[in-house]
Amino acid sequence: MNALLEIKDLKKYFKTSRGLLHAVDGINFAIERGNTLGVVGESGCGKSTLGRLIVHLLEPTGGKIFFEGRDYTNLSHQALLESRREMQMIFQDPFSSLNPRMTVKDTILEPMSIHGMFGGDQSEQTRHVGNIMDAVGLAGNLANSYPHELDGGRRQRIGIARALALEPKFIVCDEPVSALDVSIQAQILNLMQDIQSERGLTYIFITHDLSVVKHISNDICVMYLGNMVEKCPAKEIFKTNYHPYTRALLSAIPIAKTGVKRERILLKGEISSPIEPKPGCRFAPRCIDAKRDCFETQPDLVEISPRHIVACHLYSNVRAIKK
Ligand SMILES: Nc1ncnc2c1ncn2[C@@H]1O[C@H](COP(=O)(O)OP(=O)(O)OP(=O)(O)O)[C@@H](O)[C@H]1O
Ligand SMILES: [Mg+2]
Repeated sequence: MNALLEIKDLKKYFKTSRGLLHAVDGINFAIERGNTLGVVGESGCGKSTLGRLIVHLLEPTGGKIFFEGRDYTNLSHQALLESRREMQMIFQDPFSSLNPRMTVKDTILEPMSIHGMFGGDQSEQTRHVGNIMDAVGLAGNLANSYPHELDGGRRQRIGIARALALEPKFIVCDEPVSALDVSIQAQILNLMQDIQSERGLTYIFITHDLSVVKHISNDICVMYLGNMVEKCPAKEIFKTNYHPYTRALLSAIPIAKTGVKRERILLKGEISSPIEPKPGCRFAPRCIDAKRDCFETQPDLVEISPRHIVACHLYSNVRAIKK
């Protein structure tokens, strides 16, 4: 397999006054070059923390990150700086992630100056800014505008342009369309797909909305309170899904065709605390199928069919996969 990125047993625990908060608790996956992995799950399940760990905005508590086969887990200051050229992140809120005092041009130029791109040649860098603005659909006459002068869609185009400035191979897209109007969402999603195929980019696309990643992901990973509960090819998840939490997520997506009814699964019960979590499956208190085992031991990931894995005691008769 030609994996560009592989993570093994990745963990991030935050110290809080009430104990250790297990934000990301042992995630494993690999992404092939040019592919998109959609990461879905409700608020607080650890999606952004996972993305930040991968691009080294946070240091992991445990586990490993491999990029192009090299160990990228604990980088020296210099190696960290170099990794920025290969891995970038696009943030959910284009307004708060942009410096209000910097023009469009300066925002895109900044990473190039820091990294001394084009041997520090400023006219080459400025030409590159023009090319990127063009690639993300920002008119050249906006170069000297400030973020507050632009609408949400254009602001997110600046966020994308800045992520592209260093010509990375891999981008974590953290809810890049959630803050935008529905009509603008489709434009930005299309733009991101075009850029991906033109530049052979690899994406992790984080969202709480499965319908957003449906068309753009090769695989989908479903997270629940720091754990990966199911992962499979995107095309498959809508037809064949196993984890009760995945089923509940899917039931919340409206069906466009009239006359088709889908029964909405309303989750009851208390959400477990991610602080010093109890043993057992973290979804058990909300799961309608939970049995005794589910409250006592954490389920292993099992491979139900090729490339389709799930962590749920309902399928514990299937052999666990090796980590
Ligand atoms: N710096 C931090 N210190 C302490 N706890 C944190 C920190 N950052 C995140 N957390 C906690 O880690 C958990 C995961 O947070 P994270 O932001 O990764 O979730 P998310 O899935 O991205 O949620 P959302 O959909 O709301 O963006 C949450 O319980 C959050 O409160
Ligand atoms: Mg988040």
